[in-house]
Amino acid sequence: MNRPAPVSRILGTGHYLPEKIVTNDELSTYVDTSDAWIQERTGIRQRHVAEPAIATSDMAAEAAKRALEAAGVAASEIDLILVATVTPDHQLPATAVFVQQKIGAGPVPSLDLAAACAGFVYGLTIADQFIASGAAKRVLVIGVELLSRILDWKDRTTCVLFGDGAGAVILGPAEESTAANGKRQGLLATHIQSDATLAQSLWIPAGGTRLPITAALIDEAENKVHMKGQDIFKVAVKNLFSSSKKVLEKSGLGPDDIDWICPHQANLRIIDSAVNMLGADKEKVLVNIDRVGNTSSASIPILLDESIRSGKVKSGDTVLMCALGAGISWGAAIVTI
Ligand code: ACO
Repeated sequence: MNRPAPVSRILGTGHYLPEKIVTNDELSTYVDTSDAWIQERTGIRQRHVAEPAIATSDMAAEAAKRALEAAGVAASEIDLILVATVTPDHQLPATAVFVQQKIGAGPVPSLDLAAACAGFVYGLTIADQFIASGAAKRVLVIGVELLSRILDWKDRTTCVLFGDGAGAVILGPAEESTAANGKRQGLLATHIQSDATLAQSLWIPAGGTRLPITAALIDEAENKVHMKGQDIFKVAVKNLFSSSKKVLEKSGLGPDDIDWICPHQANLRIIDSAVNMLGADKEKVLVNIDRVGNTSSASIPILLDESIRSGKVKSGDTVLMCALGAGISWGAAIVTI
């Protein structure tokens, strides 16, 4: 099914990474691991870790300010704020309201959405629908995670994988905007999906209503991330491929029409396998996992912004984004910048 024309487009992007860097060698002083193991199995060399004074909304607001500046949009023009995160400042209220306050936005709806690593693609999809219905004209979509606070730093199977950071985009109506290369700019297709079959393969068992926190649960690190890595690996490859295929079909494009693939940065081996299945050119794959690790919902918008600011991704380029994470939740989107 061909979608006639995009309704929304990306007006600007921004990202923020905390200054502090933790290398694999430093990690190997906390847990029984090595730089060689981590690089070979995941492609990660280092990750950024937020200092104790920094909260999720601080990083989100920095990324948002940079996206607003790039878009030439004032905070007062934003009429919806969506913050994709599984590491909120507080359980109550939403992190989005702190972002709203920090950037100086008006009294607009602001909400968090929890779809883990797929959160940014979920956010784009929702923002696109708000613009399509005419309910919003300028939407701020943020993917932000402060995962270092929810990791068990004694668990080598999880603590080596993740990092902190934030990425943001401003979405507005596509109207008749055309890039210099003549391509219509905008979001061409999205696809999102969830399935609880593997909900316990990547989760935080305690601290919610199912298992309220106790001192004993804290001692057992049940309030930290637990993961069955191989369960996730298999479905990640399968579903990144299937959702990418779906958005290609929806937009009437083939792998050769895509200029860049901006995949969720979970593991280089997952990315390679999914791109192989898709039959896409490896040269088109954007990667920063070596420098930032897996930043969950922040992963795609950080990579997208870095690639635009470095001049690699240019106006008129068509980008395929795909992500999968806890839930499991996954999705993909195609956008012409
Ligand atoms: N350092 C050294 N050894 C380790 C480490 C480590 N950091 N972690 C695990 N090992 C050991 C294991 O204990 C095991 O030892 P054993 O054979 O003596 O039992 C051995 O290495 C192999 O473990 P596996 O789990 O089989 O290793 P695998 O090759 O599957 O790699 C990994 C593990 C990297 C986690 C992989 O399964 C993976 O990337 N899965 C996807 C999970 C993921 O990316 N999650 C992120 C969130 S979801 C998402 O973003 C898609």
